[in-house]
Amino acid sequence: MLIRRPPDIAPSEITPPDLYRRRRAFLRSAGLIAAAVGTGVVLPASRVRAAAQKLPNTRSGTFSTTEDRTPYEDVTTYNNFYEFGTDKDEPAQNARSLKTRPWTVAIEGEVRKARTIGIEELLRLAPLEERVYRLRCVEGWSMVVPWVGYSLRELIRRVEPTGNAKYVEFVTVADRRQMPGLAYPVLEWPYAEGLRLDEAMHPLSLMCVGLYGEVLPNQNGAPVRVVIPWKYGFKSGKSIVKIRFTQTQPRTAWNRAQPREYGFYSNVNPEVDHPRWSQAKERRIGEFRKRPTLMFNGYAEQVASLYAGMDLKKNF
Ligand code: MTE
Repeated sequence: MLIRRPPDIAPSEITPPDLYRRRRAFLRSAGLIAAAVGTGVVLPASRVRAAAQKLPNTRSGTFSTTEDRTPYEDVTTYNNFYEFGTDKDEPAQNARSLKTRPWTVAIEGEVRKARTIGIEELLRLAPLEERVYRLRCVEGWSMVVPWVGYSLRELIRRVEPTGNAKYVEFVTVADRRQMPGLAYPVLEWPYAEGLRLDEAMHPLSLMCVGLYGEVLPNQNGAPVRVVIPWKYGFKSGKSIVKIRFTQTQPRTAWNRAQPREYGFYSNVNPEVDHPRWSQAKERRIGEFRKRPTLMFNGYAEQVASLYAGMDLKKNF
């Protein structure tokens, strides 16, 4: 079964190796790996789905690909959400109890209308659209997902960035009581990511609250995340609690952990290898053959102009 297959690149490859080994050693000594395997409590995808809520009034949006969609079961059981564990099937198990109500997102920094917005208001801020986007992980796999949300710029316009705002930082929730992965220094918590303001204002950048017509499952970043389809998946921060507008480029969680390997831009670019593996090909989840990775994940027509004149090997 798909979720039993090891990821294309093991977490040990992505995570700084010493941290990874320390974490596994700790789990083993605590008997946690054996216990987890022994119980076999893998929640069937059908039960995950039974709990999901439909999102009403979702219209079909622009920019959708007509490629085959990755099945719901795979989208919701093959995840990266390190706050809930580094194995692909751990987030679906461990995120079940994440409390997503009440939930607020603080808008701070270089904006005229700094404020804290509740999730109910965020859900009503603009008409919800289904956008079928490719998501390509830096590890070498990809998915096609019918996300639900609206362009991030709908929110940005309403908070009125000042002339000093050049970047947008997304900070995601970090609650030790609810997120077992925070006990391990795999990354510096909270997970944070960033975009240039013009990237965030691009209509493709999605404020995402659902998938497959339903509210976001916790393991996919409930109750609100971003999806930036032309960048490697790690730029799409999950379970966001703060959006900060800044004059200077924000530090990001992966860049802090491995600056040589994860740059600020992280555009999908088959010509720039990860220092430890090629990025020329990818495996679509559910398929065995690999396919060539496309520049900007296939969104070059829409986004290439954002990087006109930039050296994308230097600005990786
Ligand atoms: N956001 C948080 N807060 N923590 C994470 O570990 N992983 C990132 C990104 N957002 C991550 C995160 C990575 S590496 C990927 S590939 C995508 O989420 C995966 O999104 P998905 O599980 O919905 O496919």
